[in-house]
Amino acid sequence: MCGIFGIVSEDEQHLGPTLIEAGHRLSYRGYDSVGCATIDSQGKIDLRKNAGKVDTVAKELNFEEMTGIRGMLQLRWATFGEPSQINSQPHLDSDGKMVGAHNGNVVNNVELREAFLAEGMTVRSTNDGESCVHAVERYVRKGMDMVTAIRHAYNDLQGDYAFVIARADEDCMYAFKKGSGLVAGIAEDAVVISSDLPSVLPLTRKIMRIEDGEIITFWHDHLELHDITGRLIEREPELIKETMEAAQKGGYAHFMEKEIHEEPKVAEELLNLLDGSADVEPMLERMRDARNLYFVGCGTSYNACMMGSVYFSRLTGRAAIPVLAPQFIAQFAPALGPDDVGIFVSQSGETKDVLNAIEVAKDKGASIFSLVNVIGSTLTKVSEYHLPMGCGYEISVPATKTFTNQVIAFLYLAMRMGGQDTSALRELPDLMDKTIRTSLPQIATIEERIKDWESLYCLGYGLSYPMALEGALKIKEITYAHCEGMLSTEFKHGPLAAVTDGYPIIFTVAPEDVPIILSGINEVTCRGGWAIAIGEDDQRLRANAHDVITIPPSTPEIAALLTVLPLQLLSYRMSLQRGFDPDFPRNLSKTLTVD
Ligand code: F6R
Repeated sequence: MCGIFGIVSEDEQHLGPTLIEAGHRLSYRGYDSVGCATIDSQGKIDLRKNAGKVDTVAKELNFEEMTGIRGMLQLRWATFGEPSQINSQPHLDSDGKMVGAHNGNVVNNVELREAFLAEGMTVRSTNDGESCVHAVERYVRKGMDMVTAIRHAYNDLQGDYAFVIARADEDCMYAFKKGSGLVAGIAEDAVVISSDLPSVLPLTRKIMRIEDGEIITFWHDHLELHDITGRLIEREPELIKETMEAAQKGGYAHFMEKEIHEEPKVAEELLNLLDGSADVEPMLERMRDARNLYFVGCGTSYNACMMGSVYFSRLTGRAAIPVLAPQFIAQFAPALGPDDVGIFVSQSGETKDVLNAIEVAKDKGASIFSLVNVIGSTLTKVSEYHLPMGCGYEISVPATKTFTNQVIAFLYLAMRMGGQDTSALRELPDLMDKTIRTSLPQIATIEERIKDWESLYCLGYGLSYPMALEGALKIKEITYAHCEGMLSTEFKHGPLAAVTDGYPIIFTVAPEDVPIILSGINEVTCRGGWAIAIGEDDQRLRANAHDVITIPPSTPEIAALLTVLPLQLLSYRMSLQRGFDPDFPRNLSKTLTVD
């Protein structure tokens, strides 16, 4: 959550456009407020910030015209302090001689603010980014140089964050990190730092990943790294070969639309990766011998765990416990032991809830495996084995292609463990492609019918139940309508009371579950509800539901997976119909590095 970017350039120049561009790339991390600070060669700080999205605030405050040798930008996903001008970042120190911004969460912010006030500092906001600035100021006031002051501040700031700061009277900038992502880029005429790689790559492919507890000092032509004890670290930069094409919209209106259309391609890439992976077999071996098997994630990644559990039970005869990461700690910590295996699932690899769960599992000696999309993320480092999801960048806040690949990875592992031939999965990319192409025209009339409903349900059973949960999450996330995902048979135990004339209920249907879904459909249609079924073409569904979105015929396991594609597309279309931006739903952030 939140994003930071900093640059030190060779000459005094218009830094505004570079900062705005970085803001666009980082905007998936937070869009409650945005701010820029530039410092010119005379040490004059120009700070402009306000609540709102990048384009609006940049226009309103004319970021474009901002000049300087040094500059920083921050995008905020609010935690400490409501989204407002005063809580926007960057922040100044008491005398306006330093400026800094952070991403992440400083959990002792309230106590720190009181201490800073008692020490006579000027505290202007309730935002924890300001606490990072004062934490450094506190030691600079005692006469320490910046690196030493930052080392001390690091001990005072509890939580996970990355932070950039500059003094007006120097020609360099500093950044440090604990828990959140931070990467530096070395360009021809500038050195930059950022919360993520895609915002650095347009400027340079020569990068350096900053580790926890490291402090980077950067000038326009070089950088220095110190560890938390003050020792100088030697590290060679890496050269990144990936193209930036993945981070562009490529002709689609939104990243979400593009990413849904990429699903068949990334599925194929994942299958290649899995077939070539030397890690799959040792993972399976350990899983076969495990006492308990836990699949752990949050949000969409948790829904993939649910699906994984269904697959494992069917195909391997082994029960796997799908569990939300914080509940894994609350419920299963006392029962964990060295013979247990956890598969931790996360697109970002930085979700704090998941990393917390891993810490607990590690303490108990359990094996840590993961399914993760962002290579180099914390999750890849703390896992004994990690399987990369091979999706490339997922920019849109709602997860789509990473979800389908997580599900495919679970299906692949279950098939391998169950002794099945995984080559049957090779038809999956084509089936996904066909599902996307054929469901789009089918969705057109349905989106019209349901777009104005503020409340609806997504019901599934057995194999397709996790897909109903995921479809409901997508709908509520980007349409802001309340959509609950539920087991179809549970609907009659209470929620059925919500049904009125035309009330929409979407059913995800795996072929073997048609009979039980038909009961669910009839229970709602006889009360005036509007039933929409997503499943293989079936006369029984056509005869009972009002609308049927058909998916191509396949195996039951694949059919269940395919039902989520029309739901992703429907949520996308519905979001547009309701006038929202599906890529950046309000209040949300792509990477959640807070508890
Ligand atoms: C929903 C969504 C979130 C994430 C959740 C976990 O579309 O994207 O629910 O799935 O925040 O994130 P990761 O997978 O990065 O751990």
